[in-house]
Amino acid sequence: MTAENPPAGDGVPGGGAECGREELRSGEGERRDGGGAESGREELRSGDEPQQLWHGRFEGGPAEALRALNDSLMFDRRMYRHDIAGSRAHVSMLESVGLLTAGERDRVLEALSVVEAEMDEGRFVFVASDEDIHTAVERRVTELSGPAGAKLHTGRSRNDQVVTDLRLWTRAEIDELCLLVLRLQQTLLDQADGADDLYLPGYTHLQQAQPVRLAHHLLAHGWALARDVDRLVDARRRTDVSPLGAGALAGSSLPLDPAQTASLLGFAAVFDNSLDAVADRDFVAETLFALALLGVHLSRMGEELILWASAEFGFVELDDGFSTGSSMLPQKKNPDIAELARGKAGRLIGNLTGLLVTLKGLPLAYNKDLQEDKEALFDSCDTIRLTLLALDGMVATLRFDGQAMAAAADSPYSAAVDLAEYLVERGVPFREAHAIVGGLVRDALAGGGGREAFVASVIEDPRLGPAAAALLEPGAAVVRRHTPGGAGPGPWSGQRDAFVTRLQTDRDRIGG
Ligand code: ARG
Repeated sequence: MTAENPPAGDGVPGGGAECGREELRSGEGERRDGGGAESGREELRSGDEPQQLWHGRFEGGPAEALRALNDSLMFDRRMYRHDIAGSRAHVSMLESVGLLTAGERDRVLEALSVVEAEMDEGRFVFVASDEDIHTAVERRVTELSGPAGAKLHTGRSRNDQVVTDLRLWTRAEIDELCLLVLRLQQTLLDQADGADDLYLPGYTHLQQAQPVRLAHHLLAHGWALARDVDRLVDARRRTDVSPLGAGALAGSSLPLDPAQTASLLGFAAVFDNSLDAVADRDFVAETLFALALLGVHLSRMGEELILWASAEFGFVELDDGFSTGSSMLPQKKNPDIAELARGKAGRLIGNLTGLLVTLKGLPLAYNKDLQEDKEALFDSCDTIRLTLLALDGMVATLRFDGQAMAAAADSPYSAAVDLAEYLVERGVPFREAHAIVGGLVRDALAGGGGREAFVASVIEDPRLGPAAAALLEPGAAVVRRHTPGGAGPGPWSGQRDAFVTRLQTDRDRIGG
């Protein structure tokens, strides 16, 4: 791994998202680390415990209750690779501006590699004074490299450090999540391609409205996902700005070179204002919004799959591998993935709302409230990742019942507007045509609503007749939707081409 290209993902063995959250929820403040780490803490507590990195002006150590509330290690340790990448860049810059010798830089770089290996392999021993990943890495680097390590934090504050790490983490995470969205889009396209000429009722108000091709319906979700990718890519652009060099809030009296660290870390831009650099969490809020809206889209797909899989609709059969059974009712096959896709949206919206409320009214610059950004972001990313993967598998294995869909779509009433348009083509003003057909529908429904009676009334009506009645034949209405972007077979290939082009463009810009 190079500083320019820190790896994506967490990769902390024995750590990671679930672990961090699990421990957090359990409330066991002491059990933050893996096995090895824990025993390390025990040993150190017996007398030779390192002090907090900021101990200088303090006489006593921190109270346990403060640590329990204040420490963020249990969730921010998943950023260790990004923290190490940031330190590599920082120390290289310090050397190039003459604040470290080449030998000191090399000793720190070596120590950082040791720390990385220890963390990668789950051998890193956390101690009680490691309140977050930044202090843990720096403490260990100093243990390993002595006086050179003590220079690592020169001109740097955890305020610019933490937000550098989080921007690196978010940038990589957005790339991965975009690829998962693209994968679901491809799956929708594959299902659309396999759907041939299948059609189903299109709904408004969840009332049968007009028949639509299944392929068209599936890509409606695909296009919403394309906008989600767009939003994530856009959020990534504003994430891709280096705050390193802002220090605690005001920059430095030392000859730091923020442009150099930015370029070493592969950031596209450098901060313009040090106060803003350490206080800004817009990129987190924007990412949370993009994920919340993505989650809302997935919840809408989920809701439809739940409806379609019900006995009442019967449009789709779920694969055994992507559905669940009931503990009591042997006949049940439940769409749990779709329900969770629907349910998780609440959590994603909650994470966004929570962060916005945290940010509201915060004075410049850094405040500890900002530590609240990470769990929300990590949770939303983890939630979306799981949901996308499961939903992708579910959609890929759906088996559609073309007969059930056609039977529901072939109600002659779904083609009522075709009758009105038939009249429009013969010069009848649309409002009048609407009223004429509406009257026939009303009479037919009053007489029991059967297909035969309605078709007969259309044939008998002198303004309509047999040519108009032919429009009510099963499957006739869907093929007549020929306007650009419409639901019939005519415009399909144009839409499909545009979607394929969009997928490719997005893959190219994300690099997938
Ligand atoms: N753990 C902290 C956070 O997540 C790191 C920054 C701490 N800065 C400070 N001045 N105490 O925000």
